[in-house]
Amino acid sequence: MTGAWRGLLPLTALLLGGADVRPTQEYLSPEIREAQEDPSRHPGWLWVEEGEALWRAGEKPCASCHGGIAGMTGVAARYPAVASDGELLDLEGRIERCRTQHQGEASFGRESEALLALTAAIALQSRGMPVAVATDGPAAPFLEEGRRFYQTRQGQLNLSCGQCHDDNAGRRLRGDVISNGLGTGYPAYRLEWNTMGSLHRRLRACSLGVRAEQFPPGSREYLTLELFLASRAKGLPIEAPGLRR
Ligand code: HEC
Ligand code: HEC
Repeated sequence: MTGAWRGLLPLTALLLGGADVRPTQEYLSPEIREAQEDPSRHPGWLWVEEGEALWRAGEKPCASCHGGIAGMTGVAARYPAVASDGELLDLEGRIERCRTQHQGEASFGRESEALLALTAAIALQSRGMPVAVATDGPAAPFLEEGRRFYQTRQGQLNLSCGQCHDDNAGRRLRGDVISNGLGTGYPAYRLEWNTMGSLHRRLRACSLGVRAEQFPPGSREYLTLELFLASRAKGLPIEAPGLRR
C-alpha cells in the first residue's frame, strides 16, 4: 500500500460510514495464502473437479440448459440474491432450486458433498471478480435484518460480530488472525474440518464461539447475515474456494 493511499483510508471509512474492510487473503498466513492459489496444494480442488463432473452428469445435466460451466462467470459475485418469488437465495439455495424444479431430482441437501462441490466449481468461475450483490429494492429489508443481526451483542460472551471483525481485525485469537469476517472465500476447505464446508457452517462456529444460538445452514438468520457480509465486501474479490486452518 502506498503512503498516499494509507492516508486516504480513514477518509474513505468516514465516507462509507463503515470500518476499513480488507480482502480476507490479506489476513491469511503466507503459507495458506499461497496454497489457496495453488490447485496442487489445495485439497478443495477435489471438490471443484467433482463439481465440474456433476455439472455434466445425469439425464438432464446442468450443462444441458446452461452450457459450459464457464457460463457461470460472475454469478457467485451476485449472490445471495432475491429470486422472482421474493425468496432470498444463496448460491447453494439457487442450485437446489435448479436441482428440484428444473432437473426434477431430489435436493442434494445442505453440506452434502455434491452441493459443496457444485457450489465450489461455480464460485471458482468468479474468482478474482468483485462482489456485486444487489442491496436495494427487494433485497433492502433482508439487508437490514442481516445488519441488525451483525450489530447485536450475542451469547454468553455478549459480543456482536463487529466487535471481533471490525474492532479487533488483525489481532490474534486462539491462533487465528481475526479477519473482517467476509464470505468471499466460501465454500472453503478448512484443515480443522478436514473437509469442505459452507459459509453457514463457519457462521455456526462463530455463534458457538460466543456461546450463542447456532442456526441451521440455509436458515433465514444466516442468509440475511450472508447478504450483509456481502454488502460489506462489495468491490472486494471473490476468493472461493478458500483454504483455512
Ligand atoms: C431445465 C433447465 C435447467 C437445468 C437442468 C438447470 N438449470 Fe439452473 N437455471 C435454469 C433457469 C431457467 C434459471 C433462471 C432462474 C429460473 O428461472 O429458475 C437457472 C438459474 C441458475 C443459476 C443462477 C444464475 C444467475 O445468473 O443467477 C444457477 C447458479 C444455476 N441455475 C445452476 C444450476 C445447476 C448447478 C444445475 C444442475 C444441478 C442447473 N442449474 C440445472 C434452468 C436450468
Ligand atoms: C470472539 C470473536 C468473534 C466473534 C464475536 C465472531 N467471530 Fe467470526 N471469526 C472469528 C475468528 C477468530 C475467525 C477465524 C479467523 C478469521 O477468518 O477471521 C472467524 C471467522 C469468521 C468468518 C470466516 C472468514 C474466512 O474467510 O474464513 C466469517 C464469515 C465470520 N467469522 C463471520 C462472523 C459473524 C457474521 C459473526 C457474528 C454472528 C462473527 N463472525 C462473530 C472470531 C469471531
